Amino acid sequence: MSLASAAAAAVVPVHTGTQHYDILIGPGLLDAPATWQGLPRAARALVVSNTAVAPLYASRLRQALRGHYAEVSTIELPDGEQHKDWPTLNRIFDRLLADGSDRQTVLFALGGGVVGDITGFAAACYMRGVPFVQVPTTLLAQVDSSVGGKTAINHPAGKNMIGAFYQPQRVVCDLDVLATLPQRELCAGLAEVIKYGPIADAEFLAWIEANLDALLARDADALAHAVRRSCEIKAWVVGQDEREGGLRAILNFGHTFGHAIEAGLGYGAWLHGEAVGCGMVMAGELSARLGLVPPAFAERLRRLVERAGLPVRGPDLGAERYLELMRVDKKAQGGEIRFVLIEAPGRAVVRAAPDARVREVLAACVA
Ligand code: NAD
Ligand code: GLY
Repeated sequence: MSLASAAAAAVVPVHTGTQHYDILIGPGLLDAPATWQGLPRAARALVVSNTAVAPLYASRLRQALRGHYAEVSTIELPDGEQHKDWPTLNRIFDRLLADGSDRQTVLFALGGGVVGDITGFAAACYMRGVPFVQVPTTLLAQVDSSVGGKTAINHPAGKNMIGAFYQPQRVVCDLDVLATLPQRELCAGLAEVIKYGPIADAEFLAWIEANLDALLARDADALAHAVRRSCEIKAWVVGQDEREGGLRAILNFGHTFGHAIEAGLGYGAWLHGEAVGCGMVMAGELSARLGLVPPAFAERLRRLVERAGLPVRGPDLGAERYLELMRVDKKAQGGEIRFVLIEAPGRAVVRAAPDARVREVLAACVA
């Protein structure tokens, strides 16, 4: 595509077995006509957003899309992780059918990871698959959830249990929209940024440590670099392992403990990024207790997560409940929990751990 009028944008290509697409990263992308060129043509587009984001950005997106689609409408979903569920998904299908949407209709996911995940799943299912575009508006969604085609809704028994791998046509990360993000949400997004350091890039980990204050203060250059490097790492991983046959599991660093926290407390009690931040501290501690990294590395990670304004002690669900919830994790095999652990800064491994070591970690890291 021509980026003539989006000259400040960085472009990170994603090449998977099922789809090649670009991640555009930069300021001012929402209103730049070039952002929306070259997408699948259709009579109709549906912007899927929520009650918090739509009032801020939906009319600008609709305006930008009007040059490309004759009919552009919006559906506003209820806001929150607790709505990433069947009834909310059905509302999207109801709307698509009521509008007379056909197989060419393009869905635009305008929002954070909740909107992105549920819209992607709706796109994967409606008429067995319609094109969709990710327009992520949280830091977490820009650095992680909008890229790589994991789409899902939650089940009360487990996070993201019902879903599909379904790649978007494009990802548009307009950095300007981060200005309205509440600080707690920015911190939650930093958890997924931090994640990429220990699992894949020791230099990036050091960069995050050195630039954390700038990130917390929303320095534009720092945020642009964090989003771009995170997307590059994610694109590299997903390009090698789209359906998580192996390597992609490293992106779940902190998520085994984190998903247990989310499901155990009830979705929405802790933000996803908060649970992941705390889960990384626990997984770092487990890595150290298994002798993979020195204790000083676990402490380094704990300090960084804490500085990012994220919780470093888990809620007291009880060790048995943690273990029960972690056995539902998608990485578990035959009831055996498998963790993403750190072997060295920038290098991760996925393996089981004795329950006794996990209990030690829980005893050490739970409030
Ligand atoms: P979210 O979607 O709930 O957004 C956080 C909050 O910020 C919401 O209240 C939202 O309405 C609001 N918001 C969004 N953009 C805003 C803006 N620009 N200004 C003001 N408010 C704004 O949460 P999230 O952290 O973006 O995403 C978490 C979800 O992502 C979880 O469901 C998680 O499972 C999923 N996830 C998916 C993947 C994946 O690969 N598909 C990866 C990581 C996380
Ligand atoms: N966020 C984990 C993944 O995309 O695989």
